[in-house]
Amino acid sequence: MVLDFGGQYNQLIARRVRDNRVYAEILPYTTDLDTIRKNKYKGIIFTGGPNSVFDMSSPHYSREILDLGIPVLGICYGCQLIAWMENGVVSTAPVSEYGKIELTVGKSALFDNIPEKSIVWMSHTDYISSAPEGYEVIATTPDCPCAAMQNTKKNIYAVQFHPEVTHSQYGEQILYNFLYNICGCKGEWVMDSFIDSTVEKLRNQIGDKNVILGLSGGVDSSVAAALLSKAVGKQLTCVFVDQGLMRKNEGDFVEKTFTSLFDMNFVRVNCGDIFLEKLKGVTDPEQKRKIIGTEFFNVFWNEIRKQNDKGYFAQGTIYPDCIESGKGDADVIKTHHNRVKTPEDVEFLGIIEPLADLFKDEVRKVGEKLGIPRELVWRQPFPGPGLGVRIIGEITKEKIELLQNADFVLRDEMARNGYERNMSQFFCVLPDVKTVGVMGDHRTYDNLIIIRAVTTDDFMTADWARIPYDILAKVSNRITNEVKGINRVVYDITSKPPATVEYE
Ligand code: XMP
Repeated sequence: MVLDFGGQYNQLIARRVRDNRVYAEILPYTTDLDTIRKNKYKGIIFTGGPNSVFDMSSPHYSREILDLGIPVLGICYGCQLIAWMENGVVSTAPVSEYGKIELTVGKSALFDNIPEKSIVWMSHTDYISSAPEGYEVIATTPDCPCAAMQNTKKNIYAVQFHPEVTHSQYGEQILYNFLYNICGCKGEWVMDSFIDSTVEKLRNQIGDKNVILGLSGGVDSSVAAALLSKAVGKQLTCVFVDQGLMRKNEGDFVEKTFTSLFDMNFVRVNCGDIFLEKLKGVTDPEQKRKIIGTEFFNVFWNEIRKQNDKGYFAQGTIYPDCIESGKGDADVIKTHHNRVKTPEDVEFLGIIEPLADLFKDEVRKVGEKLGIPRELVWRQPFPGPGLGVRIIGEITKEKIELLQNADFVLRDEMARNGYERNMSQFFCVLPDVKTVGVMGDHRTYDNLIIIRAVTTDDFMTADWARIPYDILAKVSNRITNEVKGINRVVYDITSKPPATVEYE
């Protein structure tokens, strides 16, 4: 268990533990001791945090946690907290350490296979000036007399630096040593065991009741649906709202996937016409977004009301949706679009979020194991309002069709050339622009299509993708030939910032 005291690297710690094939879950520091006792953890990691242990408004924990007989590793704030709880001395460091610092280690099971001197990542203003009784200093830096300490009798270890970040040269080995040498973990956690244990948990929880899930066709809700289908089959009903703003053939593909590969009740609500009616004459991007979002939930909740069954409500919430990065406090759980608020008149037995502990790439691995087609599991991000924000100006049926057809050509050509997985996101945009062209002996006055393609790690910044000219030439040629009503194709060569990925 990773006990979260609000540090910025908490998700990363859990990630690194799982990379060692050991399951880790993150719990807020407000979790009571009984829960920890009951869950029979093999080890506990106290995370870092932005506070000072001697500020009593900062997160603390009952010192009994150190007497449970469970090995503990404290990191940064977690390290100081252990010293403070055990009556050591924590004070403001005369020199704060920030960045890469040289560490000297002594003998400890935590430092097996680590050279005496190495580089670690430090970020602290307080430090342990005197280790508690029963604790032995096992590492130092030039400005930190206690950069790590241990109490081998109680199996408690603490490090002032951050082993979880890659700047710490042997951080991975330190976590490995804690998990394997100290906690005695076996490294048996793989996606198969996650699937088996989750399916069992879901069966126990749901019993003979029903579950309803809103399926968007995105990765998270699809994987949640497949897991629930494996657990309870026909007791699961998936409601798929097709607002008519998806990519070409996408609605049919989602329907075919879930009706042919998985055992469940599948309800597709085709409501493109209602959306178009609501969007008539609307050109303001924010208003469009609002209408699409509101209408989506109106349709969804109406369908749920029709189902008339008080069962469970399932969502594809994943870990990064649950906890706002850098805040371990239970009070700051984010209201994310994946955490849907249910209307007052719709009652459920409870909410089920089977993926709430997983990171995106883990969700994809589970999806692959469950047999969801790769096309869906590796799907590029697609905005909630769909093509609605890729059509500038008023949205009409004709424009949707034009954009779907052009976008289909781009995707088809990228797939044929093996570029589908190499680029973070690519799509077509239909701006509200017509230009003059020539076709045979005639002049035309037709639509312009923009190709947008980006590479990025996190979507916060992005570079425009260098699609080879030959592929661009083919795409342009095919779009102008195959999609009636388009006579010009342009390629967007702007990075983010200053532009964004989407156009509205
Ligand atoms: P921007 O345009 O902000 O896009 O650079 C960054 C990423 O977010 C996606 N995006 C959205 N996703 N609803 C969503 O679910 C939206 O309204 C929305 N707008 C942008 C975008 O596709 C890109 O991956």
